[in-house]
Amino acid sequence: MKAVAVFLLVLCYLAVSHAWTCRDAPRLYNVKQVDAGQGKVVARDSNYYVYFLSGSSWYRLGSLRLKHVSVGPAGIWGTDTSNKVYKYIAGNFVGATGLSMQQVDAGGDGQVVGVSSSQSSYCLRSSLALAYKGVGSLSWNSLSRTMRYYSCGPLYGCWGVDTRSQVYVTQRITATSCGTTGWTQVPGLTMRMVEVGTDGNVFGVAANSSVYQRVGISHVHPQGTGWVSVSMCMPITHLSYDLGQLWVVTNSGLLLQCSN
Ligand SMILES: *[C@@H]1O[C@H](CO)[C@@H](O)[C@H](O)[C@H]1NC(C)=O
Repeated sequence: MKAVAVFLLVLCYLAVSHAWTCRDAPRLYNVKQVDAGQGKVVARDSNYYVYFLSGSSWYRLGSLRLKHVSVGPAGIWGTDTSNKVYKYIAGNFVGATGLSMQQVDAGGDGQVVGVSSSQSSYCLRSSLALAYKGVGSLSWNSLSRTMRYYSCGPLYGCWGVDTRSQVYVTQRITATSCGTTGWTQVPGLTMRMVEVGTDGNVFGVAANSSVYQRVGISHVHPQGTGWVSVSMCMPITHLSYDLGQLWVVTNSGLLLQCSN
């Protein structure tokens, strides 16, 4: 089955020529989620184990099982199937008390953002996120907007998708206070998830599992000017972008590494 999928992938990329070229990433089976930041790549498989890429090998991170993992300036953070929040400390994931989150993102300028199971969005100030050593309760700031998925970068703020799959951006989020400049709705397509890279590049997965890049993002146009299709040949469920590499997870659990 795996061999067939890889064979189809090769055929697909021989047949289609476009700006992004994908290849099979170093092999990890049944990948469900990926996150890349500051040169690091982490992924979660269908058994809820978390892995870290080094060279062409994946190494299991810690012994706990997580649902979502994120790596960035704030460290490595994750959530489990009970929506408990974890930080990677001294070689293992350590659970934190405080609010429960279904998804967290460590890609901001030291702050951590999260979405609770009631789809409320929260931010953990950089001083608290960076210093947390597994003791005491985390004190989250409310971000007063309902979101289903949330991602931040240090350069161009945070991008989120609400329960109606509408995309929003906040250009400025102050890591030390979690203050934001307010949200701008991004016109155009609806998305299942969006991720913003450390350099401000934004990619999303649409409802029909197609991949898009948001183009024209600048300080004048923080919401960008349009979505450009990134042809993938296979239905995609999750993605992450960092330092020129786009990591995509296919519906069948393959991890592809794409560059242009
Ligand atoms: C996905 O949706 C977009 C926007 O509606 C559309 O342009 C595109 O052709 C669709 N892709 C597939 C594979 O159905």
